[in-house]
Order: sequence, then C-alpha cells, then structure tokens
Amino acid sequence: MKLRQMTLDDLPGVLELERLLFPEDAWSEKAYRDELADLDGTRHYVLAEDGGGLAGWAGLAAVGDQADVLTIGVRPELQGRGVGARLLAALLGEAAVRGCGEVFLDVRADNDRARRLYERFGFTPVGVRKRYYQPSGVDAIVMMRALRPGDETPARGAGR
Ligand SMILES: CC(C)(COP(=O)(O)OP(=O)(O)OC[C@H]1O[C@@H](n2cnc3c(N)ncnc32)[C@H](O)[C@@H]1OP(=O)(O)O)[C@@H](O)C(=O)NCCC(=O)NCCS
Repeated sequence: MKLRQMTLDDLPGVLELERLLFPEDAWSEKAYRDELADLDGTRHYVLAEDGGGLAGWAGLAAVGDQADVLTIGVRPELQGRGVGARLLAALLGEAAVRGCGEVFLDVRADNDRARRLYERFGFTPVGVRKRYYQPSGVDAIVMMRALRPGDETPARGAGR
C-alpha cells in the first residue's frame, strides 16, 4: 500500500467511492475541484493505492493553529486492514508540519468504526451538533486532538 498526494486525475475514482461510502451527503465534483484548487494553500489531500488501484483517500484543511479532518474513506473490501489509520496518520503528520496545534473533526454519532479509529489516535469528544446529518437526523460528534511540534509521525495508537 502506497500513499501519495491526490490530484485532479484521481477525481473519477474518488467520486465513485465517495458516492458509495457517503450516499446521504456525498460531495459533488465541484466541491472536490474547489478543494483541490487550494492544495498549495490550506488543503492537503492524500490517496492510498493498493496494487495501483484506489484503496482510500483523506483530506485536511489547515488554517493558522487549527486543522480539520474534512474527509476520510476506505474501499469497503479493504476496510479493517489499517488503511484508514495510515491515511489519518498522514493527515496528522501534515498538520504538525504546518504548525497546527489542534486538529478537529466531525463524525456521525452512529459511525462506531470511525469513532474508534479517532479515539485510538487520541481524539476526544468536545461537542455535539444536534441532528447535523439530514435527512436521518443523526448527531455529529465534534472531536479534537492537540498536536505538539514533533508529532510529525503520530504513531500513537496507529500501530496494529
Ligand atoms: C472509518 C474508515 C475510514 C476506517 O478505515 P479502515 O481502513 O477500516 O480503518 P483501520 O483498518 O485502520 O481500522 C479499522 C479496524 O480495523 C482494525 N485493524 C486495522 N489494521 C488491522 C490489521 N492489520 N488486522 C486486523 N485488524 C486491523 C482496527 O483495529 C480497527 O478495528 P475496530 O474497527 O474494531 O476499532 C472506514 O471504515 C470507512 O471508509 N468508512 C466509511 C466512510 C466513513 O465512515 N468515513 C469516516 C467519516 S467521519
């Protein structure tokens, strides 16, 4: 499994996986194009490849002291093998390199696997956005993890 930066050429594969993994609120092609237009600025998108095929992807926004995990997804048949952990570690490493002191993310309250992944990486719940996801009305849990200089390889909780 290899990680590399995502480019516009990766969009068709990512959009297909996006619609599969997030049927209720998939990002549009335009949303992704807007995100990737800021790769030299506040954004960082990373892709995981398995035997040359798309295994997963993840995106980060870093503005000043704060970074946000914007998205992360792994092809269903490859979940549970550490791809998500690799992607999240890459985002945290980038946030540390960019000098961010805190990383935030939103996760659906009913997404147990994602919540466990974030908890293993030291994220803790700091708030709830009631009925944030529509039309299901599921809450969003806001989670946060502090980053210190030197956390470029945040293996804490990642190794399994
Ligand atoms: C959430 C998501 C990104 C996690 O990715 P993943 O690749 O499955 O994550 P990992 O493999 O690193 O960890 C998942 C599980 O596999 C286990 N695992 C990891 N590597 C393993 C290995 N080599 N052998 C056995 N188990 C392993 C982890 O311990 C973890 O177990 P748990 O779910 O019981 O806590 C993925 O499930 C996904 O794409 N979900 C749908 C989209 C989504 O919900 N995204 C998050 C939005 S907030």
